[in-house]
Amino acid sequence: MQDIKIDISRAKASAVGKEHGISPDELREIEPRVLAAHDLLRQERAEGKFGFYDLYRDQDTFRRVNAVAQEFLGRRYDNLVILGIGGSALGITALNTALNPAYYNVLSRAGRKGSPRLFVMDNIDPVTFRAMLRLCNPMKTLYVAISKSGETAETMSQLMIALEILARKLGREEVRNHLVVITSPRGHSRSLLHPVADEYGLTSFDIPPNVGGRFSVFSPVGLFPAALLGIPLDALAEGCAAMDERCAKASLQENPAYLRAAVQYVLNERKGKRISVMMPYADGLRDVADWYRQLWAESLGKRLSLTGEEVYAGQTPVKALGATDQHSQVQLYREGPNDKIFSIVEVTRFEKTMRIPEVLPGIDELSYLRGKTMNKLMNAELQGTLDALKVSQRPVIRVMLPRLNAHTVAQLLYMLEVETAMSGRLYNVNTFDQPGVEEGKRIARRLMGGRG
Ligand code: PA5
Repeated sequence: MQDIKIDISRAKASAVGKEHGISPDELREIEPRVLAAHDLLRQERAEGKFGFYDLYRDQDTFRRVNAVAQEFLGRRYDNLVILGIGGSALGITALNTALNPAYYNVLSRAGRKGSPRLFVMDNIDPVTFRAMLRLCNPMKTLYVAISKSGETAETMSQLMIALEILARKLGREEVRNHLVVITSPRGHSRSLLHPVADEYGLTSFDIPPNVGGRFSVFSPVGLFPAALLGIPLDALAEGCAAMDERCAKASLQENPAYLRAAVQYVLNERKGKRISVMMPYADGLRDVADWYRQLWAESLGKRLSLTGEEVYAGQTPVKALGATDQHSQVQLYREGPNDKIFSIVEVTRFEKTMRIPEVLPGIDELSYLRGKTMNKLMNAELQGTLDALKVSQRPVIRVMLPRLNAHTVAQLLYMLEVETAMSGRLYNVNTFDQPGVEEGKRIARRLMGGRG
């Protein structure tokens, strides 16, 4: 059984007190609103308003992505460089960290199963960009420029630098073998990646117009790099399908995404839990927490409601990592302001076991570790944090993945997307726009002497 599980028992009033947890009455009261929102979301999905739900069903795109990826893999690039930011970058980072081995980039080609190293350039720090250029010989590098709007200054500046280097070092004709673009389809936007693709004859993929950047991980934005990195796309699609089936149910008992949305919403609105901390207990999931941070913040952090009132909605998402942040954040989480709800994400069975050897026999104080495993210690630390948070009356939702693989990670990401869509409805905000981001982009462009 690969299904991920949700447990809200530690977010209930019976566990952390009525002041901090959700009561059965509160859960009952929110249910009709969830049901109404469910109907609306289903209707909007059927009308094709939000495309993220159905990306995994688009077999033509999956086939083409796989075929083109295989073709490019045949050219044996050493490096895959993603040029993109926000929703164009966080998804593939999350997938790679979760599904490829730790320290992926320093493994041999055989260790990477023939796939290239990955560099996700999601910033314009010149020091980092130069360092990447120094590491990535253009002849052995494939750049993938990803931008839904096709005009984001960060991505366009990176692209201009990469293009100039490719053309100068390899010749204009060769650029098409080293650069792929992923953007909105022609006719739907004025993406500046279209004229670039035309000029150099580049391979390109479309981002469906009804899919926003932060909801695009299962479009070519995440899928093409994932295929190049050896991540099985069919398992991703199956994981999405499995979660979609669960999310088709309207009831809170059966739909994990809605249950999480409802609990987080009630605890924010009624119990002052203005901060949502996602703390996985697996290194592989650290970047899923980063991806979710953007999804939650950009989708729900809104000044205006759908009906135009000033609401200043949203919960501040925070990412943490267990056990590492037990030695950094948990002091605050237990004894600081009780204004947070925690999502503790667990992997029931790690893919590897690490035994702690029977050394240092002269040190009695270490006998409790000798002959045990890191797996058991991680589990004890997790249990310790769960219980300690409960003692301090801090609400927790547990998210349990039986294993860490493409199927379960896809379930997790899909569930978090549906949860965000439902939450937007509960807050009555537009989940799918980002006026605050667009404003900053416009100002920066003007300061650079461009159109404001
Ligand atoms: O989720 C979003 O829409 C944003 O975070 C975008 O992904 C980000 O601003 C990058 O935009 P674009 O893909 O248009 O370059």
